[in-house]
Amino acid sequence: MKKVFITRKIDDRVIHELKQHFSVEVWPHEDKPVPREELLRQAKTAHALMTMLSDKVDAELFNHAPELKIVANLAVGYDNIDVKEATERGVTISNTPDVLTGTTADLTFSLLMAVARRIVEASEYIKNGEWQSWSPYLLAGSDIHHKTIGIIGMGSIGEAVAKRAKGFDMDVLYHTRSRKREAEEAFGAKHVSLDDLLSQSDFVVCLAPLTAETKGMLSTEQFAKMQKGAFLINAGRGPVVDENALFAALQNGEIAGAGLDVFENEPISKDHPLLSLPNVVAAPHIGSASRATRYTMMELCAENITNVLNGKDAVTAVRA
Ligand code: GLV
Ligand code: GLV
Repeated sequence: MKKVFITRKIDDRVIHELKQHFSVEVWPHEDKPVPREELLRQAKTAHALMTMLSDKVDAELFNHAPELKIVANLAVGYDNIDVKEATERGVTISNTPDVLTGTTADLTFSLLMAVARRIVEASEYIKNGEWQSWSPYLLAGSDIHHKTIGIIGMGSIGEAVAKRAKGFDMDVLYHTRSRKREAEEAFGAKHVSLDDLLSQSDFVVCLAPLTAETKGMLSTEQFAKMQKGAFLINAGRGPVVDENALFAALQNGEIAGAGLDVFENEPISKDHPLLSLPNVVAAPHIGSASRATRYTMMELCAENITNVLNGKDAVTAVRA
């Protein structure tokens, strides 16, 4: 029987389905990543791996896994995987696109709204018993409607954010490698240079995948180009933003605030400098974390594994 190793405890229903056809081993913890040695040990006899974005899938792992046919990553991003190396060895890599688009766009827009209208500060304020009276500028924030949003990385999640922005009567700018005529027609999105996007947007929303090109693309120089009242939202990958530069820009008042779902080195501790700033709203990489969407992502991973181990193509394979 072919063996599937799953690097985190996932939904029992999905494990049960896979067990109908394969021998399935699961790292038994939901909130603790599998240690590297255990992953390498399991990989030795595995035909398929279901991995998390926190698992590094590289040449060393492939060297340990002579039987491996597919790695199904429970995420749309796959910067944790050396896809080129996988392709050379004939190992299929799959991700979970499309099924998490709306959910991740919802979280992205939640962060935008939370930081603009100071929702987290407001909640802390009232929970701390600080509310003494109504007052005209109490926790006054920034408007969202009729403002300009600039989306970096106009993939399907970017388009879903643009759709939400349209509902708020926002002007939509975007910067991405290839133009998206459909988004231009549907949401009046305007394709602009990165510099124009930075200088014209009230909300800069970063959804770009992490690649050699995008690593550190938002740093001191880019924050200097943003407006003083502007906000940065990052719901893509942490290393696309230079966190030291972001901290400085926030502290010096060069930009107004940030909503962050991703960080350079995850997980971060409560001592992380960005968390000391009141105008930062932070979330622990939960973009696609609705119960329904996570279940659908697991199902898609299981389908990809089942297909490949039965000699068929993965539904959502990625290429280098
Ligand atoms: C989450 O960040 C994902 O890539 O799915
Ligand atoms: C999402 O919008 C992406 O660019 O991957």
